[in-house]
Amino acid sequence: MSQPRLLILGPPGAGKGTQSANIADEYDVSHVTTGDALRANKDMDISDMDTEYDTPREYMEAGDLVPDAVVNAIVDEALDSADGFVLDGYPRNPEQAEELAGMTDLDVVLSLSVSREELVDRLTGRRVCDDCGASYHVEFNQPETEGVCGECGGKLIQREDDDEESVRNRLDVFDENTAPVIDHYEDHDGFVAIDGEQPPDEVWSDIRRAIDERTE
Ligand code: AP5
Ligand code: MG
Ligand code: ZN
Repeated sequence: MSQPRLLILGPPGAGKGTQSANIADEYDVSHVTTGDALRANKDMDISDMDTEYDTPREYMEAGDLVPDAVVNAIVDEALDSADGFVLDGYPRNPEQAEELAGMTDLDVVLSLSVSREELVDRLTGRRVCDDCGASYHVEFNQPETEGVCGECGGKLIQREDDDEESVRNRLDVFDENTAPVIDHYEDHDGFVAIDGEQPPDEVWSDIRRAIDERTE
């Protein structure tokens, strides 16, 4: 098989970014993530797409979804130039799922599940590298040197949407918009449910086994 085409689903804080980094390394695929792409372009002018706000920033800081037209275009372009990918953060509603079905087939669909209280703890304690985006946690996943990225030496910061109010809204937006998307993928041949509540290494070994079984 050529490079695998993987989708990773799960609520905010489930570990999509953490595990996508492992997947991209191990299987030599591109990490396509709408969250990172939007954070790098928070102030781009989207007013010509007939949106409520003129930039992604307002939506993201509140933890609301950025309009579909903006994210569909990001994913379409990224997948076009990828030979194998792990897609993280998209699709987030049924309309985006339909759009994705028109762009590509998928070999494996991973779904990480984690309880709500654990998600709140993970997100409010998360620190991310300002340079390379690597994820850490003040308690569960500490860097070797406090405040410094172990990958690139960059500075660790807190994401603007990781305050408790935005976190709770993001979890509500997930329940309302994205949970139905996950139900829809349960019928996919490559679907596999992963217990995301385990320690990161155990989640990773379950993911690796699931991908290997489905891509031989
Ligand atoms: P996005 O960046 O995608 O955020 P999210 O879905 O809220 O997910 P997170 O990145 O917060 O969580 P994650 O699952 O990656 O967890 P992580 O590995 O970091 O989206 C942000 C915003 O952009 C959205 O709110 C929206 O506005 C917009 N947007 C993006 N895509 C969009 C789309 N398609 N449509 C519309 N709008 C869109 O882990 C979390 C923490 O837990 C870390 O601290 C980590 O170290 C720790 N951790 C990880 N695994 C474990 C473990 N097993 N045990 C203990 N701790 C762990
Ligand atoms: Mg993420
Ligand atoms: Zn870094």
